[in-house]
Amino acid sequence: MSDIDEVKSRLNIVDVISQRVVLKKAGRNFKGLCPFHNEKTPSFIVSPERGTFHCFGCGIGGDVFSFVMEYEHIDFVEALEQLASKAGVTLTHRTETTPEGKLKQRIYEVNHLASEFYHYLLTTHRLGEKARAYLAGRKVSDKSIKTFLLGYSPNSWDGLLKFLQKKGYEESLLEKAGLVIRSAKGKGFYDRFRGRIMFTLKDHRGNVVGFAGRVLDPKEKEAKYINTSETPVYSKSNVLYGLDVTKDAISRANEAIIVEGELDVISSFQAGVGNVIAIKGSALTEGHVNLLRRFCERIIFALDSDLSGDVASRRGIEIAERGGLDMNVALLTGGKDPDDIARQSPGTLKKLIKDAVPIYDYFLTSALGRFDASFAFGKKKISEEILPILAKIDNSIVQGHYVKKLAVALDLTEETISEGLKKQKFPVVHQPSESPPALGPSRQQKLEIFLLAMLFQGKTRELFEDLKESVALTDFMHPPVLAILTRLESFLRRMQVFLMKDFSDSLPPELIPTLDEAFLWDLGEITESEELLAKEWIRAISGFRHVVLRKKMQIWTKKVKELEKEEERLQAQEELRKLAQELSLLEKERES
Ligand code: CTP
Ligand code: MN
Repeated sequence: MSDIDEVKSRLNIVDVISQRVVLKKAGRNFKGLCPFHNEKTPSFIVSPERGTFHCFGCGIGGDVFSFVMEYEHIDFVEALEQLASKAGVTLTHRTETTPEGKLKQRIYEVNHLASEFYHYLLTTHRLGEKARAYLAGRKVSDKSIKTFLLGYSPNSWDGLLKFLQKKGYEESLLEKAGLVIRSAKGKGFYDRFRGRIMFTLKDHRGNVVGFAGRVLDPKEKEAKYINTSETPVYSKSNVLYGLDVTKDAISRANEAIIVEGELDVISSFQAGVGNVIAIKGSALTEGHVNLLRRFCERIIFALDSDLSGDVASRRGIEIAERGGLDMNVALLTGGKDPDDIARQSPGTLKKLIKDAVPIYDYFLTSALGRFDASFAFGKKKISEEILPILAKIDNSIVQGHYVKKLAVALDLTEETISEGLKKQKFPVVHQPSESPPALGPSRQQKLEIFLLAMLFQGKTRELFEDLKESVALTDFMHPPVLAILTRLESFLRRMQVFLMKDFSDSLPPELIPTLDEAFLWDLGEITESEELLAKEWIRAISGFRHVVLRKKMQIWTKKVKELEKEEERLQAQEELRKLAQELSLLEKERES
């Protein structure tokens, strides 16, 4: 058994979760108030049988590891360590068992040694004098040099190379770590970082993943910064500089200040703004957002660039919006960066951060500053910039708030703005008016999962046979539901008895959340008697057929309108007639 399975088998998910959430027994499951969103009535369900949890309010779910990861804001390895010690399982070092894991471990090791080498040169060696003076000139304190493990790379071709070779490391490993570069002739290797201030890049757990080297001399013709290239442990889009040092402050404040560069982080930190990280001159990525979401819900951009003008930034903001982060912008004045401001006046930096405005206000102000809203042309430019942004706001209250604001700013009615907004979302399509409206996607999805819930909480094989007699599997619209049903069909064909565990083990991981949602759906008293379940099942199936029929009618109605050839149109009309007949039959059935 793997460590993971061992830990899982020894722990009861109900015990682990009850330490953090009050749970009450509800049939075969347990129920409580979801710790991941605000709610007054419990929709958070835990199944001891399946070892999973699911919240019907916010949709979050998973196993005991995902619960602890989400609740404690830690990653999988950390959750595994925590739960293993609780379960009394000694971990056999998982990361080092695969060749890939071994390589990563070795890269961390050489990177760590390299960081110590650079740090030693900066703090203690004669060669580091100029660099020490440079940092002192930028008011970087000795304490910061230690906290952030700053260093200096000597201005030679093989300083680091020799140091690590002496310690017994092969050149090929150093090359994979991005520390040395193979020379053009392919024979020798030389140091990547030479004569630079070294910033040690760590992941949030403190592993050294790479380096950024900055030139000392501003007149230097070489690139101002050189970063580690992509390696098995370093990807630019996943690293937030400083997070290893500042994550606790971020988590306490439930807020992260996002700055451009390494020196901005260090100066802000020295100025008493501890909850800060840098995206290193790039835009926010999916990786950044996912990482940040584990520590806080609010972010404040304190960048010297104009977010609204920049396409990459706009994309980063869309990602953060989807990630549900509350975004704000600190307005840095006079083209200064946080580093300048912090050094001049720590109080000013704190005030600017305190006065940060919601990002949509910032966009509005920025656009109004660049175009003249008193002319039609200016109004057009402003709305072209702002409407696509407003269209992506999920929360309708927040969206409404800004529709109103934009209307006032452009001196137009809210209806005009809303019209413009609708065009952003839905390219104009013609809805046939005669046929009854079909169910919205989310309601149909609910109905499909409800059927799945009864299927898995009742007598699965019998109900599935019945399902296939009444509807076609392809009538299911929600892809994971369709995938689960298709797999269930072949599973039942292969297996004599249906065991939930075997079935769920046979599914690819991406289908598990939907299966859990169905299996954990609180069906209340329905599952208590077979009679009741049978009755509800029939009702749900006919409800589903109703939805499917209406949807098909909508499609055929459209065809009747659009088909050019007389013959085809008649055929479509005939199809429509049949469907209507079927629908009226079904409706009569449902009434009786
Ligand atoms: N950066 C980079 N590559 C470059 C330039 C910048 O990766 N060629 C990243 C670095 O992480 C840097 C950040 O973008 O910290 C911000 O750049 P900049 O403000 O130019 O760097 P500073 O060192 O802060 O420069 P200055 O002293 O001029 O403020
Ligand atoms: Mn700067």
